[in-house]
Amino acid sequence: MLIQIQEIQQVANEVMNMLHEEEIEVINNIHDAVLARDIEKIDELFPVLLFDVEDHFSTEETMMQENNYGNFQVHKNDHDTMREKLKKFHKRWEVLKSPKELQGFLEKDFKSWLVLHISKWDSETALHLNGGGM
Ligand SMILES: [Fe+2]
Ligand SMILES: [Fe+2]
Repeated sequence: MLIQIQEIQQVANEVMNMLHEEEIEVINNIHDAVLARDIEKIDELFPVLLFDVEDHFSTEETMMQENNYGNFQVHKNDHDTMREKLKKFHKRWEVLKSPKELQGFLEKDFKSWLVLHISKWDSETALHLNGGGM
């Protein structure tokens, strides 16, 4: 298991907390496949990860816009940085099929980015959605 639910900060918006829980599940599944060096399983789960991340980011972006959140662009820029990295690593996966490289990305890059992004941008944004309510 790469990320435990307790490692992720709860934010003041239940939709966002739900998106984060889903994301952790998807990440842990692909990380299991990476540890098992199961190429076929990773092939199957990588598109699931891409889909889930896009769902996570775009749902937050829609909520920010609907609530006229002032730091929309900065928060979105941080999503875009990770969108680009994921795209790059997916391309490299398609060519190299290297579980080792993917493991490094998930454990070093992605995990720390997610934990930090949620504690900084998502928690701040959640306070400004729907008047900070649930
Ligand atoms: Fe988020
Ligand atoms: Fe976010």
